[in-house]
Amino acid sequence: MNLILMGAPGAGKGTHAKGISERYSIPHISTGDILRDEVAKGSELGKTAKSYMDDGKLLPDDIIIEIVKQRLKEDDCKSGFLFDGFPRTIVQAKKLEGIADIEAVIYLKCDDEILLKRLTGRRMTDDGRIYNVYFDPPPPGVEVYQRDDDNEETIRERLKIFYETFAPIMDFYKQRGVFHEIRGDEEREVVFRNILSILEDI
Ligand code: AP5
Repeated sequence: MNLILMGAPGAGKGTHAKGISERYSIPHISTGDILRDEVAKGSELGKTAKSYMDDGKLLPDDIIIEIVKQRLKEDDCKSGFLFDGFPRTIVQAKKLEGIADIEAVIYLKCDDEILLKRLTGRRMTDDGRIYNVYFDPPPPGVEVYQRDDDNEETIRERLKIFYETFAPIMDFYKQRGVFHEIRGDEEREVVFRNILSILEDI
């Protein structure tokens, strides 16, 4: 199954991608995670990525498309994949069309005030678990960190860019009949159930 999980920053893409990926045995491909790994390694790509990410800006399309093309060549993508954070521009969506057929795009819709609270409260572990100081605090003794781009100023810029770029991508996938919208600001279990009910019909 070739899937895309879309939503504004903090909509719950990373949270739900893990469960979908396990259930359908497809890799979770987060362009944000790939870039953060490169930043942690201190590679040339990582240095370039950091300058954009710290400001809440998108990286140039050609860099992202090349990353995705290489990732899709890996063996684990043969039976499908789940994108999280890609495509983010209409250019990326059109390029992807020449590379893979997308069966479903699920958009998690959330109000901005909730997104802001989720992102300022988000805490992560090194092995990819996601917690939230307001909604799902990390258990005592679990070491967590806060993403560099989860400060209010950068979050507002990320949200602004999301709303500037999202509409044409939504229209593009609506025209192809694969776009599904659900609320992302309900209880976690409810959101996940709603995602599965869409996927079970595919
Ligand atoms: P990226 O890593 O993709 O970040 P993002 O889109 O800003 O999304 P987030 O990871 O912040 O949010 P999420 O939806 O995964 O939320 P989560 O599940 O953690 O991109 C980062 C940067 O990389 C970009 O700004 C850009 O610079 C660059 N980049 C990446 N891809 C790119 C591309 N394609 N093109 C160009 N540049 C690119 O949830 C958030 C919090 O809410 C958590 O604490 C969670 O516990 C909580 N939560 C989630 N769901 C619920 C719920 N139902 N109830 C209560 N709490 C919940």
